[in-house]
Amino acid sequence: MRSRKTIGAHSALALLSLAIGYANAATTTTQEQLAAREARADKEAEKTLAKMTQEEKLTYIGGVLGWDVKPLSQYGIPQIHGTDGGAGVRYVSEGNDQGVVYPAGPNLAATFNPRRAIDFGRALGYDTATGGYQFVTGPGMNLYRMPWSGRAFEYLSGEDPFLGASLAPAVINGIQQRRVWAEAKHYAANDQETNRFILNQVMPERVLREMSLPAFESATKNSTVAMMMCAFQKVNGEYACENKHLLTDILKKEWGFKGLVQSDYNAIVHGLPAAQAGSDLDMMGGQMNSKVLKPYLDSGELDMATIDDKVRRILKNIYLYQFDKIAPLTTHNMASATSNKVALNIAREGIVLLKNQNDVLPLDKSKVKRIAVVGDLAKYAPPTGFGSAYVDASHYISELSGLQQMAPGAKVEFLDSLSLDPAASKWTTTDSKGNTVDGMKAEFFNNANWSGDPSSVRIDNHVDMDWSTDDLPSNGDVNNTSIRWSGQIKPTISGDQVFKVRADGAVRLWVNGKKIIDNGDGENITFGSIPPTIPESGKIKLEAGKTYDVKLEYSRRDGYLSTLGGLVGVQMAWASLAAPQDLSQYDAVVVAVGNSNEYEGEGFDHSFDLPEYQNELIQSIAKANPNTIVTMHGGTGLKMSDWIDQVPAALHAFYPGQNGGQALAEILFGKVNPSGKLPISIERNVEDNPLYKDFPKFDSTRKLVKELSYKNDLTMLGYRGYDKTGTKPLFAFGHGLSYTQFTYNNISVTPGVAVGNTPIKVSFDLTNSGKRAGSEVAELYVGQKNPKVERAVKELKGYKKVFLQPGETRRVTIELNDRSLAYFDEASKQWVVDADTFDISVGSASDDIRLNGSLVNQFRQELSTTTSNPLPRSALNSTKALLPAVKTGGVFDQDENINDGNGNADYDGSTDY
Ligand code: BGC
Repeated sequence: MRSRKTIGAHSALALLSLAIGYANAATTTTQEQLAAREARADKEAEKTLAKMTQEEKLTYIGGVLGWDVKPLSQYGIPQIHGTDGGAGVRYVSEGNDQGVVYPAGPNLAATFNPRRAIDFGRALGYDTATGGYQFVTGPGMNLYRMPWSGRAFEYLSGEDPFLGASLAPAVINGIQQRRVWAEAKHYAANDQETNRFILNQVMPERVLREMSLPAFESATKNSTVAMMMCAFQKVNGEYACENKHLLTDILKKEWGFKGLVQSDYNAIVHGLPAAQAGSDLDMMGGQMNSKVLKPYLDSGELDMATIDDKVRRILKNIYLYQFDKIAPLTTHNMASATSNKVALNIAREGIVLLKNQNDVLPLDKSKVKRIAVVGDLAKYAPPTGFGSAYVDASHYISELSGLQQMAPGAKVEFLDSLSLDPAASKWTTTDSKGNTVDGMKAEFFNNANWSGDPSSVRIDNHVDMDWSTDDLPSNGDVNNTSIRWSGQIKPTISGDQVFKVRADGAVRLWVNGKKIIDNGDGENITFGSIPPTIPESGKIKLEAGKTYDVKLEYSRRDGYLSTLGGLVGVQMAWASLAAPQDLSQYDAVVVAVGNSNEYEGEGFDHSFDLPEYQNELIQSIAKANPNTIVTMHGGTGLKMSDWIDQVPAALHAFYPGQNGGQALAEILFGKVNPSGKLPISIERNVEDNPLYKDFPKFDSTRKLVKELSYKNDLTMLGYRGYDKTGTKPLFAFGHGLSYTQFTYNNISVTPGVAVGNTPIKVSFDLTNSGKRAGSEVAELYVGQKNPKVERAVKELKGYKKVFLQPGETRRVTIELNDRSLAYFDEASKQWVVDADTFDISVGSASDDIRLNGSLVNQFRQELSTTTSNPLPRSALNSTKALLPAVKTGGVFDQDENINDGNGNADYDGSTDY
């Protein structure tokens, strides 16, 4: 991927700052100062704009290098550097470390804690700025609809628009506090990957306004986000980047967005409609350029004012954010202690304890002497997804190491016999002298189909090739390379054995002559997306102690990626699916299962099933050891129903970031009391998903789905659908266990009769009725009693995370506003609150409501799309990243305490919000 030697921007930015005459960072920034700064930026942008020629303007609205805004050196304006930042800064200048890998979007959502979101934003902004970048392409905030969704792991909204609306501005405010532009993405409705370049999402206006847009609306209204990235796919027949309704009517006019709209990577297909619709910066400039647009300017079809507006928006961002904050070239601290701690704290609150039968957790350090750890996901860096949000952790705490460090007195052992690590799989073969040696015989062919004599033969200890680093001992011609490996294995455990092959091409695998893997001709990747290298698995029953022949044939195909978590190469591994006999002797077994960059990511959707027959592995382990604890990974829900009843404990760790191993170990041993709540529903079977019928069949071929209907989303997406149909999910939205218990009492709603947009206060007593200190997320849902339009039974409209000591009671208040009661009226194009009674439910999960109240709205109210806010006042306040009292130049100092709510730099779980 792109590497940069120097960031020449800095000196130019320094000059720019002097020219504008701003002082370095003040200790705090008042509203007046902000307004003055904005007025100054407007003025400076206008001055530069006035000097620019038409040609310069047309060149300027096309990005460069994939992530950058071009320089205008003649006017003293430097190149503005961008980087991807889904789960951490991905691109870094040469010589720098990778950025910190933070927990993924669903972990952040699971914290239900805007404080963690602000911390994340500030840390990500810091990493971005100290890496020499001026903007970061995040956060991602699209909704979760189906567990197949390839990019759900990037998004912080879960399945609820209010959750997204409450967290997105908090992240953005944090990022932008570092004088780094945040970029909300992907506007709008990028919630599946299949056919993302051609997919047309057909969406009623109400679904758009009430479901897909609130996170973006809140980002615009509550964080003055600098950039918005328009998405690849079409919304109601028009590409998102060419969609005037989305970009101009709603974003810029109704919401008053003052930043710039940047297209996703080559997402603009037609220059003129994109320019007219409101795209401001074409990344990579293939359409919005002089060649395409000048003829329309000449003919009068396109107005110069339209182009000026784009240039103005870009320039204004530069003058507003970068004027006096220049990262010294020497300050490339991409892995600061504070950023690490932020990553750790999100994981501590963003891992969800789903099941804990008979209090098998937390493990007791004094009693547990031997723990078995199963699953490669536990052995290395905690996993993350594939694609532009993939960041390779340069240092990390694996789950295995976390457990070992938490319980130094216990033996914590990784079970190699159940591992599918290609570097650990054991093979034997016969060498040229007829001796049995370790490894597989490898025959290389200078053709695609193993024909004729091999061009070379050798013995490989493992099948673990990476063509980006290893030599290919054939002709090096991608389209004419095939390899055959042959050897033997001797299982140590009788029963099913699983074989896994990951390769950039066609593979077939035989065990004792029986073909158990065959992916046909393999796929030449030509469709211009970023292709993953997804493994294939097969299984076969074998007996311990016997020798079996194994043969793998591999023929290479073109177009795969060695970066972004992909693989250009071939790997093979085998392991037992049956538990070893001595497993019962361990005090507990921790099994790490789920997805990773191998199975989940950008550009493709994935199956609901656990990969590699992990469901069977869990069942076998659970039979052998009653204290089996499953930790699931992935950005979505996955199938758990076939094994969940057989294990006493399960957690969803999502992708917990580079310090996830520590967080998980602290939770398993009770150092941290879990407080994460599911931001999604997990279905028993994928068919139970209330929107399942609206989806075409899961389409791994990427060829079938061209149109997707959203007509049922208002009442069928996630918990809304479970409420409507009465079907029970396996684990409901908002569910998450603690090691203590909470009781809810004495609800009051004031005023009980709504008056305009006066905040409505819902108060109740929350008691920690258990024996440990801990945090509870109290959830508030609203439902209209007798709606005349289609409405969900209930919708999340508030939540509060409260830390309580054992026995402690707190009166908790959650505010609502007029929008909490409103729906979007398509006829009047306004938000409307009907005259009706509204049910108020407060509880611990969407399916665990503890208190009920009600509220009356006596007169129908209409609310403006411009001034109404999806966040009530108190939720809005908790997204504010207060400017800390930093030293001069402190935007790049990170010595202030991170925000745990009590001002403690050290997290003690006692976060009060
Ligand atoms: C993704 C964006 C990303 C961009 C640049 C695109 O494929 O959709 O989210 O920012 O690539 O890497």
